[in-house]
Amino acid sequence: MIDSDILYQLILANKDKCKGGKVADYIPGLKNANKENFGVCLIDNNNKVSCAGDYEKKFTIQSISKPLILMLAILDNGEDYIFSKIGMEPTGDPFNSIKKLETSLSKPFNPMINAGAIAVSSMIKGSTSENKFNRVLDFIKKISENPNLDYDEDIYMGEKITGNKNRAMAYFMKNDGIIEGDVEEALDIYFKQCSIRVSAFDLAKIGLFLANNGVTSYGERVITEHTAKLIKSLMVTCGMYDGSGEFAVRVGIPAKSGVGGGILSLVPGKMGIGVYGPALDSKGNSIGGYALLEEMSKILSCSIF
Ligand code: DON
Repeated sequence: MIDSDILYQLILANKDKCKGGKVADYIPGLKNANKENFGVCLIDNNNKVSCAGDYEKKFTIQSISKPLILMLAILDNGEDYIFSKIGMEPTGDPFNSIKKLETSLSKPFNPMINAGAIAVSSMIKGSTSENKFNRVLDFIKKISENPNLDYDEDIYMGEKITGNKNRAMAYFMKNDGIIEGDVEEALDIYFKQCSIRVSAFDLAKIGLFLANNGVTSYGERVITEHTAKLIKSLMVTCGMYDGSGEFAVRVGIPAKSGVGGGILSLVPGKMGIGVYGPALDSKGNSIGGYALLEEMSKILSCSIF
């Protein structure tokens, strides 16, 4: 395990890279993020915590919610149903691309891109929209072992008002029977889940849960080992979107990014990793977080390949 001093050195060494990135501004509210914020947290399977920088700073989870709600949707519906509607293949396209929806028998390519994730949100069970979202929030509270998680109302409302490309994709999928229920309800759950506020510490806890194949640090099995492996495989192949191949070569561990600036990552069987740096590269991945993970992976020989 790395100690906090080395992590602090990694923060210093990669801080300047953040200046070369851009904070997401297509969702109102995200543009208020401070480009200079930068933090990292590692938690190993003896629960030893190492962290440095802005690892306690809260930000919205955004696309990192995608693998998390997929776990809940699998618990609710079973894997076969989910993957009768959504594929498992990387797209090589940006996260918000609409173009393959029409050319792939309308089935979204995978649950990590926006189209696939909105379809997953439509499959969460519950009696009302509120109940469905509360189940999502409770699930993320459980696997992060943080009962105090909440969501950012302003960022949620901002995306609900401006998220018309997501809305277009959702209606497209309703037309083709991928979304079976109410489209606006599915979008509402999706926008709210993206607005859940977490820290790099929370992401490291979730990473550790996946590193241990779906068991919390107090020994509760929440998902099957098979589901945990499925999620990690999709993170490796699709978690960094059209940058997933290069990330696999350079860093070599399962990871999922979000435009809020977080990266959830893990080393199977060993540790969970959370990174925060809201300056993004052209593919929507934290630019400083990516560089830090690359260096850390070399120091600790983390690559799974
Ligand atoms: O739907 C969106 O565009 C955002 N709520 C989430 C996108 C995202 O985080 C992509 N990640 N890098």
